[in-house]
Amino acid sequence: MKLSFSIIGCGKVGSALGKQLAEAGYRPVGFSSRRMISARQAAEFAGVPDRCFEKIWEAAKDADLVFITTPDDAIKETCRTISKNNGFTENAVVFHCSGALSSIELASVKSCNAKSGVMTGSMHPLQSFASEDPGKPGNPFDNIMMAIEGDPGAVEKAREIAKDLGAQPFTIRTDGKILYHAAAVVASNYLVTLMDLSIKLMAASGVLQSEAFDILKPLIQGTLANIESTGIPDALTGPIARGDVGIVEKHVQAIRSLSDETADGMADYYCMSGVETIKVARAKGTLSEDAAKQLLQILKSE
Ligand SMILES: NC(=O)c1ccc[n+]([C@@H]2O[C@H](COP(=O)([O-])OP(=O)(O)OC[C@H]3O[C@@H](n4cnc5c(N)ncnc54)[C@H](OP(=O)(O)O)[C@@H]3O)[C@@H](O)[C@H]2O)c1
Repeated sequence: MKLSFSIIGCGKVGSALGKQLAEAGYRPVGFSSRRMISARQAAEFAGVPDRCFEKIWEAAKDADLVFITTPDDAIKETCRTISKNNGFTENAVVFHCSGALSSIELASVKSCNAKSGVMTGSMHPLQSFASEDPGKPGNPFDNIMMAIEGDPGAVEKAREIAKDLGAQPFTIRTDGKILYHAAAVVASNYLVTLMDLSIKLMAASGVLQSEAFDILKPLIQGTLANIESTGIPDALTGPIARGDVGIVEKHVQAIRSLSDETADGMADYYCMSGVETIKVARAKGTLSEDAAKQLLQILKSE
């Protein structure tokens, strides 16, 4: 028989996790959140409408696995409150799903339950959960990566749970979580910002803004495919990789001269990215030292 679980904090991740764990055969025993309506909805989606609790420690007390899926800054206090109220059962495993924080956030479990064998870990689904509707069809954990760390016993459980959810687990160093999360922010959030800049420049060139993404999409996909097949730095193409100093200079001038009030910000972003791109081009070996110096002068003086 699969383990029982509770969800504390029934938002986007907590609700989806509750539903998918139940579908994978784990036994839902408690749901609690800041508002009862969230806990009730998550409990309903997991098929146990009567298992929602006002007190977080009551929701946790019968569970082999407790998932604290509140916002990051509420995890420590939520864990402490459950601990103080003896809400963790003997040998329970307590997880949170934050990408930036480690299992150390759950340290109160150890001080308040020293003899009970409670273990702690973190399981971060490396995916963007934007939907407030856990009833949406499909499994959002399917084929995603799941970063796990914590007590050895918790890591072992997390591996099993991740696989049961359809995700691919990988372990991460406890002290590496903040940089791991920064990497994820760059790959996901900053990619959105980068696309925003690219679409704005495309629109400034005269292309309809509504068509800009579709025009760029095959290029973006081709670049991703190149990174996958040849890796970095070989996937880098374009004027910096070729050492086309004059073209880069014209880019910067054209962006700065836009009437848009954000033109300077866009040019600064272009230049900053260009400086980093010079390092990649040098590593690729296609950019001479002399051309690199000229490019640096343009990108840093602008
Ligand atoms: N969203 C993502 O893309 C994503 C991806 C990976 C990991 N994560 C991680 O997953 C965790 C949850 O994120 P989320 O996006 O699901 O957040 P969310 O949608 O804001 O949900 C958090 C829920 O926690 C409840 N809550 C807030 N304070 C609480 C407290 N003190 N006690 C009990 N419940 C409380 C809220 O309650 P009410 O609804 O009851 O008001 C809210 O529904 C975070 O650690 C986050 O870093 C998120």
